[in-house]
Amino acid sequence: MGFADHLDLSSDGNLQIGGCDTVALAARYGTPLYVMDEQALRHNCRRYVDALRNHYPGESEIAYAGKAFLTRAMSRLLHEEGLSLDVVSGGEIYTALDAGYPPEKLLFHGSNKATDELNMAVDNGIGRMVVDNLPELRRLVAIAGQRGTPVPILLRIRPGVEANTHDSVETGRQDSKFGLGISDEETDDAVQLALSHHLIDLRGFHCHIGSQIMQLQPFRRAAVRMMNFTEKIRDRHGFTAGELNIGGGLGIRYRSCDEPPGIDEFVRTVSQAVSRAARDMQIPLPRLILEPGRSIVGEPGITLYRVGTIKDIPGIRCYVSVDGGMADNLRPALYDAEYEALLANRPEDMPADETMTVVGKACESGDVLIKEAVLPPPRTGDLLAVLSTGAYCYAMASNYNRNPRPPVVFAADGSSRVVVHRERYEDLTALDEL
Ligand code: LLP
Repeated sequence: MGFADHLDLSSDGNLQIGGCDTVALAARYGTPLYVMDEQALRHNCRRYVDALRNHYPGESEIAYAGKAFLTRAMSRLLHEEGLSLDVVSGGEIYTALDAGYPPEKLLFHGSNKATDELNMAVDNGIGRMVVDNLPELRRLVAIAGQRGTPVPILLRIRPGVEANTHDSVETGRQDSKFGLGISDEETDDAVQLALSHHLIDLRGFHCHIGSQIMQLQPFRRAAVRMMNFTEKIRDRHGFTAGELNIGGGLGIRYRSCDEPPGIDEFVRTVSQAVSRAARDMQIPLPRLILEPGRSIVGEPGITLYRVGTIKDIPGIRCYVSVDGGMADNLRPALYDAEYEALLANRPEDMPADETMTVVGKACESGDVLIKEAVLPPPRTGDLLAVLSTGAYCYAMASNYNRNPRPPVVFAADGSSRVVVHRERYEDLTALDEL
């Protein structure tokens, strides 16, 4: 069905995901509705794990980036699939632990971690702290000292690599709020401090160059730079990094014309760059860690909306309004992200001659989900499925206009289950005081 392998037609001719008819899902759970194909999610986890096993001769680990989509059910799924988990806030730590996810498999990121969050992480025995800057390291030294607990860390390095992606999601260049500059003096100081303190267990280094990256070259460059950095640190400090985390960032297919590299190709590229460099430098292979988010959850998710007002302004455009919008998918408004959609209740109808503009219900002209949608002439009551919405949509959803956030449903083998309930009006006022 279109470009998404996991979508097909139900026996009634409707769009189907995870063996479930989307028309029936919408009738059962209401709209807007996030639906994720659970097998496709698991499949992507396994693709990553298998690819690393096939292409990297040393030890390795996949740490899913929770910021893309994290709930209790997702935490459990990750644990079942044997993945580690990158978390960036007390809330993400809480969600994972609340689902029984083992703390030792968490990596805690963030460029401005609160002291409460650092304490929470140390007290819960989190696997690795990914330290962003020297003051953070100093705070961690103090916390480790108070507790008398050793703290395993990676240092986050800004490798100075352009990822050729949207400016808001470029993170590896020198002008960035993240990490320590690859050739800055402060970075040396941080390494020195980490190595000299008996409670800080420096395991290695981390970098992340950006997100929705459609070429492999930037990843190769980042891996080589990080290996060169590892060599420099070995020569200067006599410390050989045992772990190297190259981050996430692989792009996905949002539209039929998008052609991102595959997971296997991405993993092979990074694995080869790291193992070749290790051989040339004659250092032991570091444990290689990758942190994919979007490329695990993005394509397996869709959002179902009910079509409401249709406004055809002659000679201008046809506005097709749906019952959600920027509150459940901020990405078009924030990054000009482009999506494709289908009419889920008649996916095989011929598209209209002219494109139309799918808009949300928020009181904003900027609440445009798809500027130029290719769809059959829509009717009020149709069910619209926007594709590839599994990453950074639920995660960035808001209650703008006091709309309750939609539920999330996992669909697999013809059955579905709610993993996040639809918010109720009472939830919206639950924390309010008069
Ligand atoms: N590791 C770190 C340290 C990260 O900061 C990120 C994403 C990832 C891994 C995962 O990257 P992914 O594989 O998902 O590309 N809200 C934006 C994306 C922000 C990404 C932030 N960091 C969007 O909707 O496009």
